[in-house]
Amino acid sequence: MDNNRVYIFDTTLRDGEQVPGCQLTTVEKIVVAKELEALGVDIIEAGFPISSPGDFQSVVEISKAVSEPVICALTRANTADIDAAAEALRFAKRGRIHTGIGASDMHIKYKFNSTRENILERAVAAVKYARKFTDDVEFYAEDAGRADIEYLAQMVEAVIAAGATTVNIPDTNGYCLPDQYGAKIKYLADNVKNIDKAIISVHCHNDLGLATANSIAGVVNGARQVECTINGIGERAGNTSLEEVAMIFKTHHALGYQTNINSKKIYGISNLISQMMRMPVQPNKAIVGRNAFAHSSGIHQDGVLKHRENYEILNPEDLGIQSNSIILTARSGRHALKHHLERLGYKIDKINLDEVYQRFLEMADQKKEINDHDLLVLMGDGSDSN
Ligand code: KIV
Ligand code: ZN
Repeated sequence: MDNNRVYIFDTTLRDGEQVPGCQLTTVEKIVVAKELEALGVDIIEAGFPISSPGDFQSVVEISKAVSEPVICALTRANTADIDAAAEALRFAKRGRIHTGIGASDMHIKYKFNSTRENILERAVAAVKYARKFTDDVEFYAEDAGRADIEYLAQMVEAVIAAGATTVNIPDTNGYCLPDQYGAKIKYLADNVKNIDKAIISVHCHNDLGLATANSIAGVVNGARQVECTINGIGERAGNTSLEEVAMIFKTHHALGYQTNINSKKIYGISNLISQMMRMPVQPNKAIVGRNAFAHSSGIHQDGVLKHRENYEILNPEDLGIQSNSIILTARSGRHALKHHLERLGYKIDKINLDEVYQRFLEMADQKKEINDHDLLVLMGDGSDSN
């Protein structure tokens, strides 16, 4: 195994689809799964089969439709859930059962009304049972972000001994700071017996806006699987966003981590998910937001027109975005105006740029944005009807 290869586990169709209003039909899920395959994700979490007949059927159909990625199904730590997952995965070329239970004292006491000892036994029993169906079993220690580290280490060690091949350490409530989460992963990497028999996975939620930072801290400290969603959709404030993780590793290639993501497919699938799930992407969202490559102040526009990399650390073409955009507003300078006029075919040496710029500013003060039609009006070549 390449030690710096980071596996991308996409849970758009499970954690992402749990979001109110984001539910998809089985047919839509198959379309998404095929796009995720083309994007290069390693594992697709296709659903939670026991949760509804529709979710069960979606896991069956995705297993038939997709051949390259591992298809994963979620369960709680009980035999009925695991039976349903195994049944739903029967057509998968490579199927994974993802089982688990709460690991924090909060969950143990108030969710399960149980004890650490009993929860540990249930965790081990679930993994052993899942291993009867597949040799690819992932265990999640829910709310690991708030769990006692020694108990968490004991649990992780026990489930690896029981046959777990991936151990997922979720920050279920998005509680940790990057240093804390990274230290947690490092403690497990350094102290759990036989940790090298399993891949450590990070699964972070975004309640404090730290999901991506925490996931990266996890990888730097030994995790080699990142669980994420397209556009960062997911429970409450969402999950780690796939496009951020992929582009962080691509941009900081000196760190040496590699994923299998074809970044040129990112923008397309981001739009697809946003439309299908009726979940708009916030304009200033990193990587895929409408403004991620839009420059609007005069200083930035001038810099970008002189050399794109003055104000762009990413190349929009790497994401499947045709080009950046220079938005004309009252904050734009002559350079940006000249750029757009030339684009529309005006010969700048034949016009008085200073004079046009003054009229442009008067117009821009009245409007939020100046579009091509406005420029034609400005140059006396369009009607000013709108
Ligand atoms: O956030 C979480 O803990 C989860 C688990 C079910 C993996 O989504
Ligand atoms: Zn989650």
